[in-house]
Amino acid sequence: MKYSKNPVFPEGFLWGASSAAWQVEGAAAEDGRTPAIIDLNSQTKKPYADNSVASDHYHHYKEDVALMKECGFTSYRFSISWSRVIPAADREVNPMGIAFYNNLINELLEAGITPIITLYHYDMPCWVDEKYGGWHNRAIIDEFDYYCRVCFENFGDRVKYWLSINEQNMQIVYGDWLGVSKGCTDWFKEKWQINHIMNLCHSKAVIACHELVEDGKIGPVPGYVPIYPYSCRPEDQIGAMNAEELTQKIWDDLYVFREYSSFVKNYWKVNDIDPDIRPGDMELIAQAKIDFIAVNCYRSDVGMAPDDSYKQEIGLNKSGIKGEFVYPNLPGEYALARNPYVEVTDWDWHIDPVCMRYSLRYLWDHYHLPMVITEAGYGAHEELGEDGKIHDQARIDYLREYVYNVGLAIQDGVEVFGFNPWSFTDLLSTGNGMAKRYGLVFVNRTDDDLRDMKRIKKDSFDWYSALIHSNGQEW
Ligand code: BG6
Repeated sequence: MKYSKNPVFPEGFLWGASSAAWQVEGAAAEDGRTPAIIDLNSQTKKPYADNSVASDHYHHYKEDVALMKECGFTSYRFSISWSRVIPAADREVNPMGIAFYNNLINELLEAGITPIITLYHYDMPCWVDEKYGGWHNRAIIDEFDYYCRVCFENFGDRVKYWLSINEQNMQIVYGDWLGVSKGCTDWFKEKWQINHIMNLCHSKAVIACHELVEDGKIGPVPGYVPIYPYSCRPEDQIGAMNAEELTQKIWDDLYVFREYSSFVKNYWKVNDIDPDIRPGDMELIAQAKIDFIAVNCYRSDVGMAPDDSYKQEIGLNKSGIKGEFVYPNLPGEYALARNPYVEVTDWDWHIDPVCMRYSLRYLWDHYHLPMVITEAGYGAHEELGEDGKIHDQARIDYLREYVYNVGLAIQDGVEVFGFNPWSFTDLLSTGNGMAKRYGLVFVNRTDDDLRDMKRIKKDSFDWYSALIHSNGQEW
């Protein structure tokens, strides 16, 4: 469909950006916070920066919120650090952790910015891991429920938008990368038990939110990478469908329909997998009716029929040098390939604005739920220029085209209520520290040198500000 006018964004559309606690806060050992598994995981990725200081948002939050206000933000999506709120197995709530998030929330509200909070963004407290073995043990379900209830009780009077678990699908698909596979002996099979426990945790969060937060709304945050078929060869279409199922659809179907799809049940049967579903589990999941879907969408992938004669696992590009990404070939399932029609970032992520419209259309057609964009963004190597500025035209181009495609999806009839790209300030990338920056605001530090942590607006800040102030009309 081609439209004759620029897309119009609804009145009250939430314009903002996103972050996650362990990637932005720093102060990892301050005011009672105890370590999280991801802290240790990030430290194994040296020479890249660990997260003990990150962007020092913990100490700069007032300045950061003032900049958001200047930019015109009406929303900000961030996560709560579980181990800052509940630092130890005795379940004592840390008043300093609560105070930090109260201060941040109040500062945002005073600036006219709606908080959107993620309950879990990869940062499992080490005490949970030590006591229970992390996601492997069903005891985590009660711990997570308790933690969510503490958040709802302390912040739910002012925070009405909640997100359960960030990119559960990616945590399972990239188990090693995000630390979830730690301690597993047979990841191929055990991941489905872990995934089931995560589904129960997600469900507990949804139920508790509706119980404790007046007018509270909650949704999951799938990492959505739509899969296009490599060609119109029928086998490639099936390969693409398999990839779609095994990297995202299984998760989205569960959240929305609150039962496991026949595809995944069959997959378990064929592969002799027992997800360890116990009496009462499916009844609990059935009660967890979500209100919306929060969509993280950076890129698309291309799926095809695999070559059944060999196996190749996915190899993420960890260097930021183009061409290092290794496309997987999984016999009997699918293969992924480079899309020749689009450019890639230095980390080989397809730059594909149309995938935003495609994703929103696809998810709307399948699930008929309102959506909010909670991530999209352009990761790049950046350093201050001689003029002391960052001229990030490539990021502006990326965001412009992605937002435009959100607008087109809205014109197509999809219900979308906000756009929160990754990220506001520069923050730590999951595997590349400060070497891969996403921010609209530069943070003056590198992986090896903390410098002065000064905030410097990039060109994209001004561009985004104009876009917001015109409610999506000034491109
Ligand atoms: C998203 C995650 O998948 O991608 C973020 O929710 C992450 O935590 C972002 O930072 C970008 O990925 P990366 O590896 O470039 O930092």
